[in-house]
Amino acid sequence: MHASSGELFDTGAEPRERSLGEGAALLRSFALAHEREILDALDGVIRAAPLRHMLTPGGLRMSVAMSNCGALGWISDRRGYRYAARDPESGKPWPQLPAAFARLAHDAASQAGFADFAPDACLINRYEAGAKLSLHQDRDEKDFSQPIVSVSLGLPAMFLFGGLRRNDRVSRIPLAHGDVVVWGGASRMRYHGVAPLKDGTHPRLGACRVNLTFRKAG
Ligand code: SIN
Ligand code: FE2
Repeated sequence: MHASSGELFDTGAEPRERSLGEGAALLRSFALAHEREILDALDGVIRAAPLRHMLTPGGLRMSVAMSNCGALGWISDRRGYRYAARDPESGKPWPQLPAAFARLAHDAASQAGFADFAPDACLINRYEAGAKLSLHQDRDEKDFSQPIVSVSLGLPAMFLFGGLRRNDRVSRIPLAHGDVVVWGGASRMRYHGVAPLKDGTHPRLGACRVNLTFRKAG
């Protein structure tokens, strides 16, 4: 947290940057400066690689609909969780990582203390009312020295941020359109998830929340 960032004068306002522990930070509204480019790029990606409900290895349909862009995309099916260079639905490579996405991920990581973040994977998660993501660790990547950058768009959600063990205490962090959470370093393997999404309508995204999760996967 930087005491010089103007918060001193915003009495009563929520700080724009909040530490969530060593290596973890919440950057409020960080994505809003480039909202239009990001939403336009998102439209392009999901036109080329439509959102779909993947199956868990156990054969259950995930409540969150997913797609990817970047050199690698995270997928789940009967064979397990993994990264793949091609969209299994189309057989084509995932859409390129849009420049606006790469810049946002890089700049957010850098603001949180991780220089030179160059993600090769962006998982797109779409939550409709009732959709949720159970507590999990991001552990399918090769290099845990790189952080996770997670961008919230659309409806608000309750982010669940735990510790390094599944049973550690979980903080509940409300996330709004444009908020970015970064976790790496000592926090890289922290458990996290999303509580069931509440009903609502967002002026830009309608009845859903979209999350972009940037990773260095390969
Ligand atoms: C994830 O863990 O992949 C997504 C988290 C979120 O939607 O905020
Ligand atoms: Fe995750």
